[in-house]
Amino acid sequence: MTKQEKSLTMTVLMTPDMANFSGNVHGGSLLKLLDQVAYACAAKYCKSYVVTAALDQVFFKQQVNVGELVTFFARVNHVGRSSMEVGVKVVAEHLRTHEKRHTTSCFFTMVAIDEQGKSFEVPRLILETEEDKKHHAAAEMRRAMRQESLEKSRALNVELSEEEF
Ligand SMILES: CC(C)(COP(=O)(O)OP(=O)(O)OC[C@H]1O[C@@H](n2cnc3c(N)ncnc32)[C@H](O)[C@@H]1OP(=O)(O)O)[C@@H](O)C(=O)NCCC(=O)NCCS
Repeated sequence: MTKQEKSLTMTVLMTPDMANFSGNVHGGSLLKLLDQVAYACAAKYCKSYVVTAALDQVFFKQQVNVGELVTFFARVNHVGRSSMEVGVKVVAEHLRTHEKRHTTSCFFTMVAIDEQGKSFEVPRLILETEEDKKHHAAAEMRRAMRQESLEKSRALNVELSEEEF
């Protein structure tokens, strides 16, 4: 059996075009990169096209500076039928001092879709290591929390509608 491709690392230099008005890296620039990493990680895992269904627990703990080297560590933590939770950890490195800071972590729900935009079943996740099992257990709890939050939103009638904004 071939080994599953469930993790991916991408390193990007923070350039001045990514800056916000105060000269640090814009949150939106980081979100775009985060989404690209999550896309690549999930698409590589299931060998098909995927879309971003949801993103949660984004907390920018620390600012990222222009000139830093940022590494995105992504991994598939959990697989449902068609959805995959991809966790991404962001580490910024100062190029001269080599000091590393964990600046952000977040969790994407990526869904495999076919040419008609219909979700389809992806390969089951094989939990090989203790670390895989730990991440999977935490992801199961987050999946339950997401479901609960969706149900509460529905009960409050705050789902997207034409009338509401
Ligand atoms: C994501 C999308 C395919 C889900 O469509 P859907 O009709 O709800 O599909 P399904 O009911 O088959 O659900 C598919 C999976 O999505 C998950 N899902 C649906 N809504 C979700 C939500 N709000 N949060 C997290 N997961 C969700 C379901 O739990 C299911 O997971 P599972 O198959 O592992 O059990 C659809 O909403 C879509 O295409 N959205 C646009 C995505 C996009 O364009 N993203 C780019 C940003 S604009």
